[in-house]
Amino acid sequence: MRLCFFRRRGTDARPIRRVSALLALALLASHAHLAQAAAPAPTIDLPATNMSGDTSVYREISADLARLAASLPGDGGVAENPGAPGATPIGTATCSACHTQEQLLYSHTTHARAFAAGSGGASAVGSCESCHGPGSLHAGSPTTKGAIISFTHEGGTPVQTQTQACMGCHTGGARQHWLSSVHETRGLSCSDCHNPMARGSPEGLMAKRSINETCAGCHQDVRAKFNRRSHMPLPEGQMSCADCHNPHGSVTKPLLKTDTANGTCYGCHAERRGPMLFEHPPVRENCMNCHDPHGSNQQTLLAAPVPMLCQQCHTAVRHPNDLQTPAGLANGGAPDERLISRACLSCHTTIHGSNNAAGAKFHR
Ligand code: HEC
Ligand code: HEC
Ligand code: HEC
Ligand code: HEC
Ligand code: HEC
Ligand code: HEC
Ligand code: HEC
Ligand code: HEC
Ligand code: HEC
Ligand code: HEC
Repeated sequence: MRLCFFRRRGTDARPIRRVSALLALALLASHAHLAQAAAPAPTIDLPATNMSGDTSVYREISADLARLAASLPGDGGVAENPGAPGATPIGTATCSACHTQEQLLYSHTTHARAFAAGSGGASAVGSCESCHGPGSLHAGSPTTKGAIISFTHEGGTPVQTQTQACMGCHTGGARQHWLSSVHETRGLSCSDCHNPMARGSPEGLMAKRSINETCAGCHQDVRAKFNRRSHMPLPEGQMSCADCHNPHGSVTKPLLKTDTANGTCYGCHAERRGPMLFEHPPVRENCMNCHDPHGSNQQTLLAAPVPMLCQQCHTAVRHPNDLQTPAGLANGGAPDERLISRACLSCHTTIHGSNNAAGAKFHR
């Protein structure tokens, strides 16, 4: 197998052309009346990219490919379908004879290209049945539920059989913690987020046009928080949920990409990593002590307005100890500098910690 063909984002169109040509040949040979299937593909308008940031967690391609190369027979393998005992493979050309539309859309996807390259040009195989399982029983009786692996929740194929079909090639890497992840235990199938049947998103074969729209399908509340006054530029298309979360599972709750919550933030806000001469302990412990990462109607993603934010922890000693009342506002009877302007932050300006020898109280 020649791994160089597995270039992920290559603009090399040769594998596509080759698969179309081979399919055309196969179709002409056995289903001459269906030769229209090899007609020029309609162009598909792709949405603008909606991803940025470090997606290296997903990019363990070389490891994936080494494993694939070792595990795949020449035809790309056939998924196991316990729901169709005794079924045998019938080949892509036969599937495509009945499913011309699906085949046409599918031919633009990463899988079609990768499989075509992997087959070394010997035959246009190693596609449909690698995911859908052996098709002889289905071809004989298309309406029998479960005879073919269906990736929908109504198709009669248990979710576990569906995910196993994908995991045959995609275990490890970003999916190391898929089993017992919250999405797995709540019964999600890979196809809740991915649709490998068409190139509907710029990258990642997502079920919707972007990662964010895919997640928002179920997490509307979270997506809505990104519309608040203060938010990171996710609605603007410069970030995605997957910049911070690994939806396939992780050791850090809730599905965070890094080993600690703060590690996720340091990835882009490196200047907050420290260490500082004078540390403010809640910063080192967890940025979410003060910030809501999805959005806030306070300034700078703060989880509560200042001074209340500070006084959740600082009430015991000396000057933060007073009860703050409307009288303390700038237009009140007894204006108090702790409520005016930027409140506590007017004086405690280096709230994330200080490197100044006189910064013990975060004044500088
Ligand atoms: C003889 C024609 C024929 C062949 C050959 C055929 N199919 Fe189908 N397939 C159908 C029809 C018809 C349906 C719709 C069945 C229904 O609506 O219940 C279908 C449905 C499906 C479904 C959806 C099943 C569901 O319940 O959601 C999948 C997936 C599928 N086919 C994949 C394949 C694959 C993969 C192959 C090759 C291994 C293949 N088909 C070969 C005719 C065929
Ligand atoms: C990489 C795995 C994979 C490969 C390869 C693949 N499919 Fe699919 N197929 C899926 C998934 C996942 C779905 C469910 C998509 C969705 O959510 O609608 C699906 C859905 C379908 C359906 C049901 C109709 C639909 O879109 O819901 C048909 C029919 C089908 N595939 C046929 C084929 C044929 C024919 C081929 C080969 C040309 C093929 N598939 C190759 C994974 C695959
Ligand atoms: C026979 C092996 C095989 C099977 C089965 C398989 N894949 Fe893949 N998949 C590949 C290869 C090879 C690539 C391309 C190389 C890479 O990006 O790692 C790929 C790429 C992908 C990508 C990245 C696409 C992109 O454009 O960035 C996604 C997402 C994906 N597969 C999802 C799935 C899902 C979901 C299933 C099950 C429905 C599945 N795969 C089944 C081999 C397979
Ligand atoms: C909750 C949504 C969700 C589910 C469920 C899901 N994925 Fe993904 N997947 C994503 C997102 C988001 C990406 C990131 C796309 C990118 O960065 O290109 C991704 C990327 C991928 C990639 C390409 C990058 C890589 O890691 O190689 C593969 C392959 C993949 N997923 C396979 C699977 C398989 C197999 C399953 C089922 C076991 C699955 N996914 C379930 C959301 C999901
Ligand atoms: C098909 C629906 C569905 C989709 C799509 C989906 N999720 Fe989820 N997600 C769930 C369910 C169900 C839960 C569990 C909620 C619960 O237990 O309260 C969950 C939980 C989570 C959690 C919380 C985990 C925890 O430990 O509390 C995170 C984070 C998350 N999802 C992120 C994502 C991201 C990011 C995407 C898009 C890549 C996504 N989800 C797409 C259904 C979905
Ligand atoms: C900047 C990083 C970041 C981005 C971007 C992000 N999240 Fe989160 N998310 C987090 C962190 C950190 C937590 C944990 C919050 C906590 O501990 O209070 C979290 C918690 C969650 C939870 C579980 C608890 C809750 O607040 O509901 C879900 C579900 C979730 N995120 C989904 C999403 C979805 C969907 C998106 C995209 C629309 C997204 N997140 C974008 C960092 C992020
Ligand atoms: C993928 C990169 C990325 C990650 C990861 C990330 N951020 Fe951001 N963050 C940004 C960008 C971009 C901005 C906007 C900067 C600007 O407008 O100048 C921003 C802005 C902010 C702001 C200022 C918001 C405002 O209204 O001025 C805060 C606070 C913040 N991030 C906190 C966090 C926290 C907490 C985490 C970890 C949960 C985190 N960020 C993770 C990219 C990221
Ligand atoms: C003790 C509460 C607290 C904690 C914990 C905290 N912050 Fe902040 N953060 C603030 C306050 C208050 C502001 C507004 C500062 C201002 O307006 O001068 C802010 C502002 C920010 C900003 C935007 C303005 C700037 O100074 O760049 C970023 C980015 C930021 N925080 C990131 C983080 C990160 C990353 C963490 C975790 C390492 C973190 N914060 C932990 C209170 C906190
Ligand atoms: C989650 C709890 C928490 C929050 C919220 C918090 N702090 Fe702190 N802060 C601490 C802890 C714990 C210390 C260390 C106390 C010690 O060393 O005795 C500290 C130390 C300080 C100190 C130095 C005190 C000293 O004796 O050296 C100042 C000043 C301070 N915080 C101001 C603020 C301000 C202003 C805010 C609001 C923007 C704030 N803090 C929010 C927990 C918090
Ligand atoms: C007008 C400037 C100013 C404002 C506004 C202000 N502080 Fe201070 N704060 C100081 C100074 C000066 C000190 C150092 C006092 C000392 O070293 O004896 C201090 C000390 C502290 C300490 C350490 C207490 C100790 O026992 O050493 C904390 C905690 C603190 N401030 C929290 C807050 C909080 C919370 C707010 C908002 C409710 C706030 N400060 C508003 C000037 C201010």
